[in-house]
Amino acid sequence: MSDRELSPESIVVSSGRPPIESDAGLNIDISMNATRHAGGPIGYGRYGNENWTALETAIGALEGGRTLVFSSGIAAISAVYSLLPIGSVVTASHQGYSGVTTLLKNLEASGRIEVRFVDVANTNEVLDSLPGSSLLWLESPTNPMLDIADLPTLISSAKSAGIGVGVDNTFATPLNQNPLSMGADIVMHSVTKFISGHSDILMGSLSTNDPALFTRLEDARKFNGAIAGSFESWLALRGLRTLSVRLERGESNTLELAKRLSAHPAVSRVRYPGLVSDPHHNLAKSFMKGFGAVFSFELKDGAKMADALCSSSVLISHATSLGGVETLWERRRRWSGESASVPESLIRVSVGCENIEDLWSDIEQAFKNAG
Ligand SMILES: Cc1ncc(COP(=O)(O)O)c(C=O)c1O
Repeated sequence: MSDRELSPESIVVSSGRPPIESDAGLNIDISMNATRHAGGPIGYGRYGNENWTALETAIGALEGGRTLVFSSGIAAISAVYSLLPIGSVVTASHQGYSGVTTLLKNLEASGRIEVRFVDVANTNEVLDSLPGSSLLWLESPTNPMLDIADLPTLISSAKSAGIGVGVDNTFATPLNQNPLSMGADIVMHSVTKFISGHSDILMGSLSTNDPALFTRLEDARKFNGAIAGSFESWLALRGLRTLSVRLERGESNTLELAKRLSAHPAVSRVRYPGLVSDPHHNLAKSFMKGFGAVFSFELKDGAKMADALCSSSVLISHATSLGGVETLWERRRRWSGESASVPESLIRVSVGCENIEDLWSDIEQAFKNAG
C-alpha cells in the first residue's frame, strides 16, 4: 500500500473491517454478548462491543476524531447535555430539528440549563449571544429550512472565547463537511439518516478529538445507558459502505428536482443551498464539499394543498425522516412540535436514489391528483 492518504470514498468502504488473516471474514461478526469472561478490556455489554468499535472506527476516520455510538441521535445529544453543570447557558439554533428544540426546552423547564435560542444563519445574532454561554450548539444545514450557519466564523469565535462548540452534522454528512477540522469540540450525527441510509435503524454518534471529553462522554454512555444494539451497529456499518454513491445520486437528483420545482407555477419558494439562486449558496460553497440530499419547498396554495400533494404520491413515500435510499416527503407543520417559523405549506423532501424521471413524473401526477 502506498503512503497516499485514503479518500473519504475509500474510507467508507474499507474502514472498520477485521484484521486481514487467512479465513478471517471481511465483515465483523455480530456480537450478541451481555457479559464476557473476566480479565479483558470490555467485561460487560454496556461498556463495549466489537460492532460499536467497528462503526466508531469508520465514522471517526471520516470526521477526524474518536467516536462513540449511541442508541439514537437524540441519545447522543442527551449525553452531551448531561455533562453540563446545572444552570449552564447554551446558545442554540431556534430553527433546527424540532426534537432537539423540544429536548432543550424540557431541560430548561426543569431548571437544568438556560437556552438562548438564536437564528444560526444570522452570524451577528449568534456572536452577540455568546458572552456567558458555556456551549454553542449548531446545526447546519438546518432542518427543515436548509439555512446555513457560517461554521468557520462561529466556531473560531466561540473557541477563542473559551466556549465549547457542538455541531449536528446530520444533513451535511461527514462527506460534505467536517466541523472538528474547523475547531469544533464535538460533531454529532443522527446515524439513523444518511450514515446508515436505509430507514431501518435508529442510532446516533458523537466524535471529538479531545481525549478528556471523550472519556466523559463514554462515561455518560456507560452510566446513562443509551447504548446501541449490536445488530443495529452492524447494519449501520453495512449502510455506510455505500454512503458516497448514495449521496452522489441523492445530490444530483436533489439539484434537478429543486431546479424543476423552482420553475413550477404552484411553487412559491424552493430552499436548497445547492441552487445558485439560493441566498445561502455562496456561504455554503465556501466550506461545504456538496449540498446534501434534502431540500424543501413552499406552495402558493397553503397547507391543505401541501397535505393533498404529499398524500397523492406513489413512488415517493409520505413519511417523516430522511437520508434513506428512498425518497420521502412531508409537510413539516403537520407535527405540533415544529417551529412556528416554518411556513405552513413547507414540504421537506429527502431525495433518494430512484431514477430522476420517475421521481419527476410522480411529482407531476401528484400535483394533478391533489389539485
Ligand atoms: C438534524 C437532526 N438531528 C438529530 C435528529 C435526531 O436523531 P434521531 O431521530 O436518530 O434520534 C434528527 C432526526 O430527525 C435530525 O434530523
